[in-house]
Amino acid sequence: MRIVSGMRPTGKLHLGHYFGVIRNWVRLQKEHEAFFFIADWHALTTAYKDTKNLKSHIRELMIDWLALGLDPQKSTLFIQSKVKEHTELHLVFSMITPKSWLEWNPTYKDMKYNLLKLQDLELQFRGALRDHVKEFLGSIPYRIEDFERLEEHLLEAIAEAMVEAVFEGEIDKGILKELNVSKRDFYETDTYGFLGYPVLQAADILIYKGEGVPVGEDQLPHIELTREIARRFNHLYGDTFPEPQALLTETPKVPGTDGRKMSKSYGNAIFFSDSSQEVQQKIMKMFTDPQKLRKNDPGRPDICPVFAYHKLFTGDSQLVNQIKEDCSNGKLGCVDCKKIVFNSLEEFIAPFRTQRENLEKNTDTLMDIFHEGSEKAGEIASQTVGEVREALNI
Ligand code: TRP
Repeated sequence: MRIVSGMRPTGKLHLGHYFGVIRNWVRLQKEHEAFFFIADWHALTTAYKDTKNLKSHIRELMIDWLALGLDPQKSTLFIQSKVKEHTELHLVFSMITPKSWLEWNPTYKDMKYNLLKLQDLELQFRGALRDHVKEFLGSIPYRIEDFERLEEHLLEAIAEAMVEAVFEGEIDKGILKELNVSKRDFYETDTYGFLGYPVLQAADILIYKGEGVPVGEDQLPHIELTREIARRFNHLYGDTFPEPQALLTETPKVPGTDGRKMSKSYGNAIFFSDSSQEVQQKIMKMFTDPQKLRKNDPGRPDICPVFAYHKLFTGDSQLVNQIKEDCSNGKLGCVDCKKIVFNSLEEFIAPFRTQRENLEKNTDTLMDIFHEGSEKAGEIASQTVGEVREALNI
């Protein structure tokens, strides 16, 4: 089966990425014809304002991929933007994709919903300010031609300034927490490109006639849309594309050091680039069962993120059982427990870290691998686009 998947370059990879996605890719590349790419165009759908870190993010991702076991002998590793045909197929698909399909996409709907909440906030500010503005305008001693328009403009300007002030923290930020919106939602992602994100993703997959797409559950709506676009194209212009399937696999839960989902933005992630010392510090600061205050209090391993790490990294299952027992009956304190988990984790991370360090020094090899991959991918991509042009009579 031909499989295709991509990842946006957003920085260094952490344990969550490995167990959620990469480990799966590494397995799949052994049995399938695999195409994995760095989705740099997709990075621009949200972070287009600030691209100064894009190059270094791409480089970090290249290093992480190879260090974690993606093998250029087994799979084609490349960079999306280097295969220009992705953008061409994206354009073709944008012609045949009804807007409503995209507006129903959950990611887009969330963004829109947040935007509406912010617009609501702006309206509230306007309402609260209207009387003040009226009074102010009534009190000024010169003639105003278009009183109503001035009033509206003033209100708009002030309300916008107030929303901005909320974002800048000059007005109580609690209000934003309540609304659960980010500045990016408000100002940056109401774009054509963000709406079309899944269309570009469909092009990424179908340009290689991908049959399987190994992704996380959050991507299912995008894969469904890819299938719909393939179906529509085939229906309109003749059988050209397969209908790809998402390849979901059970993945273990890897909590962050605070027990929440591991995420860079929560500041609770352990990265493959972390030094041994950094890992140690993060482990020693980890959250544990809040009811286990003293060393000899009984703990609840099942809700403790440290124990989740034991299950993943402490290979000796007898030892894991022992830890569970000793924690539960208050024999094992959290500090000692963390020391064990640190050793297990180090054993797991160290080889990857060494690989990373070697690759860091070999920028040329890195570039060569991804350059070759992009050429190889480009051959297939250009063939598909040729077929598409023919089907379209273009
Ligand atoms: N949207 C994917 C993500 O955020 C990244 C991606 C872009 C992708 N193009 C793709 C994944 C094509 C699979 C196939 O994780």
